[in-house]
Amino acid sequence: MRHLMSPLDFTTRELEQLFDLANDMEQHRERYAHICEGKKLATCFYEPSTRTRLSFEAAMLNLGGQVLGFSDASSSSAAKGESVSDTIRVISCYADICAMRHPKEGAPMVAAGRSSIPVINAGDGGHQHPTQTLTDLLTIRSLKGRLSDLTIGLCGDLKFGRTVHSLIHALVRYENIRFLFISPEELRMPSYMTEMLREKGIAYEEVIRLEDCIDSLDLLYMTRVQRERFFNEEDYVRLKDFYLLDKEKLSLAKDDMLILHPLPRVNEISVEVDDDPRAVYFRQAQYGVYIRMALICTLLGLTGEEGGNIC
Ligand code: NCD
Repeated sequence: MRHLMSPLDFTTRELEQLFDLANDMEQHRERYAHICEGKKLATCFYEPSTRTRLSFEAAMLNLGGQVLGFSDASSSSAAKGESVSDTIRVISCYADICAMRHPKEGAPMVAAGRSSIPVINAGDGGHQHPTQTLTDLLTIRSLKGRLSDLTIGLCGDLKFGRTVHSLIHALVRYENIRFLFISPEELRMPSYMTEMLREKGIAYEEVIRLEDCIDSLDLLYMTRVQRERFFNEEDYVRLKDFYLLDKEKLSLAKDDMLILHPLPRVNEISVEVDDDPRAVYFRQAQYGVYIRMALICTLLGLTGEEGGNIC
């Protein structure tokens, strides 16, 4: 049995197979429409989510399986004081696979240690968000045709944003990747991340103004300021509108630069950018369903007609 806690749990070769399976699922949905019949996915979300939870549920329904779960800690027995370890032991009796989101770093890992079904980390505090990373990688590979030789700008809340931390861990395994970290001073990339990059000899620069570097980017990964992880509201209010990607700034970018965003967007991308062909964040959300379909089948040990089991 295998869990997914971090994007590094899969080798790059396994990831290639997972992406191939996801692309095949996109092209031949009917071929996979019954593959999970009789199987149940539990979504245990102790923290708010729209995309991640619903894309997991959509993925399982597309595969012919069923879903159950909760979307709010207050409607689960956590409100009565039940531990994550006990909850997962119970969920293991009801479902075949579980996707868990939790505000505490490491909580899905604790659950995986006590579980008799595969557990997928659907986001743990400011730590990791591996299925968003798989979504991002699939989007980049499908639309750019490669995961190497890229200059990538990550912009916004680089301190608290778990999606950027997860994505960087995954991207450093590919050749010739260069990062530009675009953030206000207060929301800089944590030092444990920049130390990791220095140890691996990966090039990065820290920049404050988006317009100073946008012309050099192959990818721009925008993020919102993570209000829920701030200790005081004043700091959030001061920083929340620091970036706004609008048509004017975008006019400085390369014609084939892709704009990604894990969503939800707050104010950091103007809606006038949405119709630009470089804005792929809604397509990215669609890729999130295909990659979760591929992941569920893989962790359940189910093979498609073409897919092949990578476990
Ligand atoms: C992200 C998250 O939850 O970390 N959203 C998502 O899963 N698509 C990004 C965010 O909330 O800013």
